Amino acid sequence: MSDTLTKLTYQTFQQGKNYFGLAHKTLSTRLLNFISPVEQQTKPIPTEVLPKLQQRLDNLLEIDWQDAERGVYPTSLLFDNPWQDFFQYYPVVCLDLFQMWERAKQKRYQDFPPNVETSAYPSYYVQNFHHQTDGYLSDLSANLYDLQVEILFGGTADPMRRRILAPLKEGLKFFADTSTQQVRILDVACGTGRTLKMIRAALPQASLFGTDLSPAYLRKANELLSQIPGELPQLLQANAEELPYLDNYFHAVTSVFLFHELPAGVRQRVIEQCYRVTKPGGVFIICDSIQMSDSPEMEPLMENFHEIYHEPYYKHYMTDDLVERLEKAGFENVKVQVHFMSKYLIAHKPV
Ligand SMILES: C[S@@+](CC[C@H](N)C(=O)[O-])C[C@H]1O[C@@H](n2cnc3c(N)ncnc32)[C@H](O)[C@@H]1O
Repeated sequence: MSDTLTKLTYQTFQQGKNYFGLAHKTLSTRLLNFISPVEQQTKPIPTEVLPKLQQRLDNLLEIDWQDAERGVYPTSLLFDNPWQDFFQYYPVVCLDLFQMWERAKQKRYQDFPPNVETSAYPSYYVQNFHHQTDGYLSDLSANLYDLQVEILFGGTADPMRRRILAPLKEGLKFFADTSTQQVRILDVACGTGRTLKMIRAALPQASLFGTDLSPAYLRKANELLSQIPGELPQLLQANAEELPYLDNYFHAVTSVFLFHELPAGVRQRVIEQCYRVTKPGGVFIICDSIQMSDSPEMEPLMENFHEIYHEPYYKHYMTDDLVERLEKAGFENVKVQVHFMSKYLIAHKPV
């Protein structure tokens, strides 16, 4: 396929996923409201925000394409979706909406069936984030998560995750001449493993490590990564507040969509742990939601996200100074980027 055709296919495909996500959200909310009405204090979205949103989406897809074109990752990654899971679990996601809706209506935010073990986890974690059935603590939740996120972000979750790859490769250049060891990269709160799969595509020789608190999500990540020929996923269940690795062990550390789900103090402790395990000269990259400081015009969307989905720490996150937190931990030369609805903090550990 010619480049122009591939690019067009990619953009059309992404716009299709965006419309699908929008249609799914609109129809399901109307249907659920019809069956069992709920009052939500959402902020109206000013009309001028919508074209800005579309512009940000177009920019995201353009840079996603350009990064593939200039070889940051293979073009095939742009089309990598867990289709089998999506088709298999779409009916379950739809059926689960009724439970999620009722849970949201009744403000049941720590709703776990007796067969889900919750006692071994910090209390801030034992939550139905996004009103998700079983929180992060069951195989059902792990199986539905990628599709739920795909719908929530209108198909842009992976393009947003991929924005860590260019700064990651750039950051690793520091070790190109000095290190004879194989490069080690840790993804903190790796969830179902999508980011690790992308890092593998971009850096075929690196040793990859992943941690998460959820055994179910790690099982799912293991299933995904084991499909890659020759891959031996090194996944560990761990609280990011106490990473089970030696000091200065990793050439790079990444974390995607974690920090908005942590209370403020925990955010700082996790950053300090990431600092501890990063090698001097290494890079730490956070990808998470946009914040007020970089996207004040998106405030109604951020407020609505906090209101509609159960995200207990998001309100504080919206105005938290992550650069200050990174510098407090010892990182320097912190660069900030924004792509669509995510921001990126690229921090360096001094040599
Ligand atoms: C929104 S999900 C993001 C998952 C994944 N990084 C992604 O891109 O989809 C948040 C993840 O953080 C994990 N998590 C939350 N608090 C944690 C903690 N204190 N230590 C380790 N993992 C944690 C959850 O289990 C979940 O997998």
